[in-house]
Amino acid sequence: MDSPPIRDETVLVTGGAGFIGSHLVDALVPHNEVRVLDSFTTGDRTHLPDDVTVIDGDVRDPIALQQSARGVDVIFHHAAVVSVSRSVDEPRQSNRTNLEASLLLLEQARQEDARVVVASSAAVYGHPEELPLTETAPTNPTTPYGVQKLATDQYTRLYEDLYGLPTVALRYFNVYGPRQQGPYSGVISTFLEQARAGDPITIEGDGQQSRDFVHVSDVVRANMRAATTDAVGEAYNIGTGQRTSILTLAETIRSATGSSSPIVHREPRAGDIRHSSADTSKATRDLGFTARVGLESGVRSLVGDRRERSTDETAGAGLEEPEERFG
Ligand code: UD1
Repeated sequence: MDSPPIRDETVLVTGGAGFIGSHLVDALVPHNEVRVLDSFTTGDRTHLPDDVTVIDGDVRDPIALQQSARGVDVIFHHAAVVSVSRSVDEPRQSNRTNLEASLLLLEQARQEDARVVVASSAAVYGHPEELPLTETAPTNPTTPYGVQKLATDQYTRLYEDLYGLPTVALRYFNVYGPRQQGPYSGVISTFLEQARAGDPITIEGDGQQSRDFVHVSDVVRANMRAATTDAVGEAYNIGTGQRTSILTLAETIRSATGSSSPIVHREPRAGDIRHSSADTSKATRDLGFTARVGLESGVRSLVGDRRERSTDETAGAGLEEPEERFG
């Protein structure tokens, strides 16, 4: 089953100035009335197109939420404290944003009878018992971030069950792409920065750990499908189904950038998951979703995008072929 594109709706994107949120806003803007609620703590105003209504506020603030959700048809919930390590250091603080605000948002959606698409995470699974991970795999998160995402994911389903609200949770695997920046931004952007600067590429541990890297344009397509699907009250894995080791990733990035940075190893990260990959057959079946961007072309486009950006500040999803963009 495939879903029609979302059109002529009033939508709210929380965290819309952030990495994933801002790409989603770009895809929604041509055919919908778009509002963004963002505190700009990590979000970047320059990533937003002109024709969106921006509410500069915190998702934990009931007034800001009420104001931004008034009359909306669909809410895409991407506001979060995305740093997993910060959730370990300050579990209560990240809980307020990642869980309590999500519940507030679901309540607000109930008032407005709005559809909700929630950014969940592969972190809900913890250490996998089997790969690839299906949505029915055991959920044993290893961090407060994972617990918060799991509870949000469960509330999302429950709001459909109890109140008939059309909700979908998307469990993202390792998302990468243009605009991913900052100290907690993920291994691909870190390695790219290191390679471009000629600094050592720092692998934590032996580099044999692996991840399912999914390009942000694919994540956006999954959101567009989730916005119109009839298969609500469900959680879906969003990844590629392919696993890449961190060592292979380091070599891919070094070669794509033409860098001569040495690859060095340091202490493994405490609590690091060894391997992760998504079984996306449920998303394929219900949302018509399959990832289109492979890691090599995704990394190549990212390298090209950054080269371009040094002369031209405009940056899209960074893929040359239009059919690989949001469709
Ligand atoms: C990522 C997400 C997290 C999500 C989870 C789902 C990011 C920043 N985090 O966590 O939000 O819930 O996937 O599975 O996208 N590494 C290095 N060197 C570095 C940086 C990282 O070797 O400089 C290694 C890490 O030790 C890890 C791997 O790369 O083994 C991936 O790390 P990271 O990009 O931070 O993502 P996850 O921890 O998988």
